[in-house]
Amino acid sequence: MDGVVIVGSGGHAKVVIATAQAMGFAVRTIVDDDPARHGQRILGVEVTGPSAPILADPGQHAVLAIGANRVRQKLAATARCRFATLVHPSAIVHHTVRLGAGTVVFAGVVLQPDTVVGAHAIVNTGASIDHDGTIGDFVHVAPGARLAGNVTLGEGVFLGIGAAAIPGSQVGAWTTVGAGGTVIADLPPGVVAVGTPARPLRR
Ligand SMILES: CC(C)(COP(=O)(O)OP(=O)(O)OC[C@H]1O[C@@H](n2cnc3c(N)ncnc32)[C@H](O)[C@@H]1OP(=O)(O)O)[C@@H](O)C(=O)NCCC(=O)NCCS
Repeated sequence: MDGVVIVGSGGHAKVVIATAQAMGFAVRTIVDDDPARHGQRILGVEVTGPSAPILADPGQHAVLAIGANRVRQKLAATARCRFATLVHPSAIVHHTVRLGAGTVVFAGVVLQPDTVVGAHAIVNTGASIDHDGTIGDFVHVAPGARLAGNVTLGEGVFLGIGAAAIPGSQVGAWTTVGAGGTVIADLPPGVVAVGTPARPLRR
């Protein structure tokens, strides 16, 4: 791989770039569909143009550096480029862990044995996922979230900052758990749940 292209230029993209640079990867360019961003620089890398030519090119290695889970899903659905998987050197990732294409693991994360993380997921700063976790595609585990062993997060789940999940709990696809929420009983798909215990606010 002769360098990675970052898709997106917001705050999340900045941390993705920092992660790639910490790994020693050359970040070739940043692309964003907002023309107002073109010409800006993030951590020394220029935003050069729209995403479509990169996403359509099988010769490119890219990362979808956009925090919104649905947006990453939409872009990945038609992309023909290859996707890099990024793991910050300070993350502790057991050798049995499997990570999908395009997934990013930020500084200070701990991933314990036999955890499987799907594609285009975000395991954000300082989060931990204990043994035998099953984390779906397009999930975002926000900074400092803590998952006990055998937790399952369905596709597209967003677990807010500092949230927690007890052993064996399951969160249905595209559900949001608010900041600081504690999952102590399974949550259905497609709800927003908050509090301790985390209970659905609405669908
Ligand atoms: C859960 C969340 C998504 C809800 O956002 P929202 O749909 O805009 O909800 P609102 O702000 O309208 O709040 C609705 C109600 O839920 C409560 N609520 C919202 N978030 C809550 C939380 N995390 N814990 C407890 N209660 C919460 C509000 O106080 C409000 O209660 P009320 O109706 O009694 O006044 C959001 O508050 C949240 O926690 N986001 C997490 C953000 C995060 O972790 N980002 C990390 C980025 S890396």
